Amino acid sequence: MNHPLAIAEGIYWVGAIDWNIRHFHGPAFSTHRGTTYNAYYIVDEKTALVDTVYEPFQEELIAKLKKIQDPVKIEYLVVNHTENDHAGAFPAIMNLCPTAHVLCTQRGYESLKDRYPHLDFQYTIVKTGTRITLGKRSLLFIEAPMLHWPDSMFTYVPEESLLMPNDAFGQHIASSARFDDQVDLGIVMDEAAKYYANILMPFSSLITKKLEEIQKMNLEIKTIAPSHGIIWRRDPGRILNAYARWAEGQGAAKAVIAYDTMWLSTERMAYALLDGLVSGGCDARLFKLSLSDRNDIIKELLDARALLVGSPTINNDILPVVSPLLDDLVGLRPKNKIGLAFGAYGWGGGAQKILEERLKAAKIELFVEPGPTVKWVPKPEDLQLCYQLGRELAARIKD
Ligand code: FEO
Repeated sequence: MNHPLAIAEGIYWVGAIDWNIRHFHGPAFSTHRGTTYNAYYIVDEKTALVDTVYEPFQEELIAKLKKIQDPVKIEYLVVNHTENDHAGAFPAIMNLCPTAHVLCTQRGYESLKDRYPHLDFQYTIVKTGTRITLGKRSLLFIEAPMLHWPDSMFTYVPEESLLMPNDAFGQHIASSARFDDQVDLGIVMDEAAKYYANILMPFSSLITKKLEEIQKMNLEIKTIAPSHGIIWRRDPGRILNAYARWAEGQGAAKAVIAYDTMWLSTERMAYALLDGLVSGGCDARLFKLSLSDRNDIIKELLDARALLVGSPTINNDILPVVSPLLDDLVGLRPKNKIGLAFGAYGWGGGAQKILEERLKAAKIELFVEPGPTVKWVPKPEDLQLCYQLGRELAARIKD
């Protein structure tokens, strides 16, 4: 889209759509649906640009700005977050409006100076409650450290009840539509959940506090315009409520089984556990890791209560394909989850103990320890034990 789009009187979306990106943060995050880099241009007696875009898209941003007003008139450049996808075009924009004031947090300033030491720019450090008047509208800042970087902040326009929270409440979706009332909300919520689970989950306690802080500030929020994906204008409460639930680690009666297998023994155990969970009245999702995207599995875990991880033993260790999921979970520290490790072995075991140590390192409480193991191939009684364990876990989850 080569045109800016008004999202309120005198406030324009001037971002870029990245239709083809399939991995974000290097290979860390799969983006099956692409993404957008949203930036917002506020034209008033004084003009402000809120965030920029990823550097390869800077010409698109500049072209959109020029269609509205010559960027030399930018008085304030708000940098909510200095990561490359939002501040990559910072030097190009500063080149067009060298007298603009940069508004950012203290940590944002430190990051900008480190990244762009050759640039000399005027800046004002803002804190929660700092207010800058543009004319008919103003900008109110809310620091949001660790959501998800130390420099992060939100910008609020009180006169429009518009919150621009940068990464928070965003989703990686490339779309020709810009608003929540123009798209399939199931897809948007699915991507919002994936974003939260894979990026924001470790900061859940801070998110709970930030939501409480915003509530105490009595800010009316009619529109949430994040820096990725769809703008929430019909129902911003939907994403606010979802964040409150996710931050608390609230889970449904749902379990996720993630495993891999060498000669199908561990797979048979996985299916017996699945049968037990389902017959116990629990929703269950099963993923063979070598065929699955682990970011999607982590998204499924967001509203689940239990994670069952299975691996056979190979070289006294777990299968290499199982490790990345556990590595991610150790960093993400999901809240209020119950874990179970299982697997088969041949001459010597060990995988299941390693799985249990990794689950504990991710702060996941074990349902039973040790979990079920099978030598060579599962016999009917082994599968019955897995089935029964699945039923017992379902009962615990439903509690
Ligand atoms: Fe933390 Fe969208 O960058």
